[in-house]
Amino acid sequence: MNIIIINGPNLNLLGKREPEVYGNTSFEDYFQLLQNQFSDVSFEYFQSNVEGEIINKLHEVGFSIDGIIMNAGAYTHTSIGIADAVAGITSPVIEVHISNVYAREEYRHQSLMAKNCVGVIAGFGLKSYQLAVDYFTSKKS
Ligand code: DQA
Repeated sequence: MNIIIINGPNLNLLGKREPEVYGNTSFEDYFQLLQNQFSDVSFEYFQSNVEGEIINKLHEVGFSIDGIIMNAGAYTHTSIGIADAVAGITSPVIEVHISNVYAREEYRHQSLMAKNCVGVIAGFGLKSYQLAVDYFTSKKS
């Protein structure tokens, strides 16, 4: 099974950025754990702070890959372009968030892409990604 994790803006700063909200672990360290945990999954990881690069990546993988796990960061709440890309591809997308966006500022309560995703996982820290992988892997078997 092939799964890509796509992280949007500022998620390259995980481990350094607002640790009280996002924790102390870098995504690279967490990604290593995830790969060890799901050793029969073939993972790709992509991070960009640039909206168009995220859209290009969705177009590139979105008609062939088994699953997309995407934390679009702030673009979740603002980007019609990314939401349109999610609507336009055929691979299933799970929207994830590290923090519980519904317990935070009101502008984080809206997701433009959620309606075209399989579902949304938010508020479980980095474990949100693992829960998404669990869904894809259990669905397959
Ligand atoms: C986030 C929540 C977003 O509101 C925020 O802009 C982020 C991270 C999360 O994972 O909790 O950058 O997507």
